[in-house]
Amino acid sequence: MVANSAVSVDTLHKRFGTLHALKGIDFSIAQGEFFGLLGPNGAGKSTLINCLAGLVRPDAGRLSVMGHDVVTEYRRTRRLLGVVPQELVYDPFLQVREALQFQAGYFGLGKENDDWIEELLTTLNLADRATTNMRALSGGMKRRVLIGQALVHKPPVVVLDEPTAGVDVELRQALWRFIKRLHTEGHTIVLTTHYLEEAENLCERIAILDHGAAVALETKSELLARGICRSLHIFASHKIETLPDQLREKVQHINGHSMELRLRKDKDSIVSVLDTIRDAGIDIIDIQVEEDRLEDVFVQLVGEGGK
Ligand SMILES: Nc1ncnc2c1ncn2[C@@H]1O[C@H](COP(=O)(O)OP(=O)(O)OP(=O)(O)O)[C@@H](O)[C@H]1O
Ligand SMILES: [Mg+2]
Repeated sequence: MVANSAVSVDTLHKRFGTLHALKGIDFSIAQGEFFGLLGPNGAGKSTLINCLAGLVRPDAGRLSVMGHDVVTEYRRTRRLLGVVPQELVYDPFLQVREALQFQAGYFGLGKENDDWIEELLTTLNLADRATTNMRALSGGMKRRVLIGQALVHKPPVVVLDEPTAGVDVELRQALWRFIKRLHTEGHTIVLTTHYLEEAENLCERIAILDHGAAVALETKSELLARGICRSLHIFASHKIETLPDQLREKVQHINGHSMELRLRKDKDSIVSVLDTIRDAGIDIIDIQVEEDRLEDVFVQLVGEGGK
């Protein structure tokens, strides 16, 4: 176990019957870190989060939150964690504000927490829905309430399992501003998302799970540096009609005056590719080089099916 870690996962195994859902996962998250937990459907992300929240019991291994063991000190670690679950679980008979107050009560908080609940309602754009029954909310609004419930006791570690699934653009942006604020204020954030652009913008370190095993665990920049390709965009003064044979397989598409080539960083020199294009009589007026994004590296590591 790593000292001062917010979350520590040590040789964690979980089986569901014959399915080995977590195959000895090991990592730790430092306090204050913004950590991304990525992976294709069925990789084991939610199982790991559920183990952390004490909802799923691991078969072997240990988990701790802020130095406390999740199994033997369940109540303590539950208080240190705010978990936004992937599934939309809610009590249909509670109103929105009541749902937040009820959750606060679970942690022994009363009236003194009401200002924070009002702030959550405003930030999550739920103030005008405060007295609406949960069952009457749309899916995206229910998710906002779940986010509020996770934050109601101001936990030092916030775990978000696909918080933006089914959430509209406006709220997604508001939500990220809010999560960033929590991070700036010192909260540790653990985020699972299939929107890899979100992860690329926000996360400092990333683990990628695939079939229950970690295929990557490194800082965002280390992960991005694993990209083996880059794209070269060529803009010509005239319509591109002929291509040198040696470039044919690198061309992604040609669109009138422009084309895109996919180049290997280790093999294809941009300078010599440009020379070859000029030699073919194409008059280049501009170029643009685009490094691989997180999504490209993700596909490289877990395959196309993982997207
Ligand atoms: N309670 C359960 N009983 C049986 N199998 C389960 C159970 N929970 C999860 N699984 C299986 O464990 C594997 C991992 O599931 P998990 O929900 O952790 O994936 P995930 O990475 O969160 O995927 P997604 O991106 O779709 O949310 C899957 O094959 C899933 O079917
Ligand atoms: Mg999941």
